[in-house]
Amino acid sequence: MAETLAQVIDKQDAISAAADALQPAVTDLFKSGGEAGQAVKNFLHGTWLGHPLHPVLTDIPVGAWTTALALDAMEAVSGREEFGSAADAAVAVGLVGALGAAATGITDWSDTEGRGRKVGLVHALLNAGATTLYAGSLVCRRRNSRRVGVGLSMLGFLVSGAAAYLGGHLVFGEKIGVDHTAGQHFPNEYTPVMAEAALPENQLTRVLVRDVPLLLVRRAGQIFALAETCSHLGGPLSEGELIDNTVRCPWHCSRFSLSDGSVVDGPATHPQPCMETRVRDGQIEVRLKRVNPSAWDEIEGM
Ligand code: FES
Repeated sequence: MAETLAQVIDKQDAISAAADALQPAVTDLFKSGGEAGQAVKNFLHGTWLGHPLHPVLTDIPVGAWTTALALDAMEAVSGREEFGSAADAAVAVGLVGALGAAATGITDWSDTEGRGRKVGLVHALLNAGATTLYAGSLVCRRRNSRRVGVGLSMLGFLVSGAAAYLGGHLVFGEKIGVDHTAGQHFPNEYTPVMAEAALPENQLTRVLVRDVPLLLVRRAGQIFALAETCSHLGGPLSEGELIDNTVRCPWHCSRFSLSDGSVVDGPATHPQPCMETRVRDGQIEVRLKRVNPSAWDEIEGM
């Protein structure tokens, strides 16, 4: 069903037009802030967290509004007003969480494209609708229009459920927010990948190791090797740009450190798999970098 829904959304030209207008506005807003804007963007993506921040924050409104639904039902059954007061508080907590979820979500969405971008926009519009309904619900609850307030929050719950369903499809169907290097297997033992003499200085070079693309860079006497597939949405890092000791992806400008694959700038949040390199008999050899060498030695000694 999610796939059918995504196909229907994908055929709507009006959604493309809206996305074409909104996406550059979000991108330009961050760009206009210079380095500070990039730092805010990195924070909202979750580069510091190691995976996207957005799904962490979406749990707040979903959890709070589900709690409000249960408390409203308990008030209706028992007639006890304290359940109603607790439900009102849960609605308010959900609204605060929804603001954080919206800020992170629109930041992630600004670096999407194709069908994921369209589904993402519908997901955002549904969430905006749900948030508006809950805001109206809170106003009505505070003005003692309790029945209308509870009705609006029940409607908001349905709309936010539909938004959450599309959010699930964005991750599991459109692969937004997942690590696009997951499933790639890199050698645990040193494996030759190319002749050392053939690797130019300061040039992004793509090689294959067991059919998996690798990025090689020779720089100031050192040879660096990272997964070539960008962890964000799979962009080819070898077609990107070398900036000091980092590589910038050509698709959405994520930047990764050559020395350890860590994310310097988002939208990527997952680090690039990084290789150790050495030269033997004129061949560059690579193996997956051991994050915790002593643990590896223990495993290999078992
Ligand atoms: S694919 Fe998006 S930054 Fe690389």
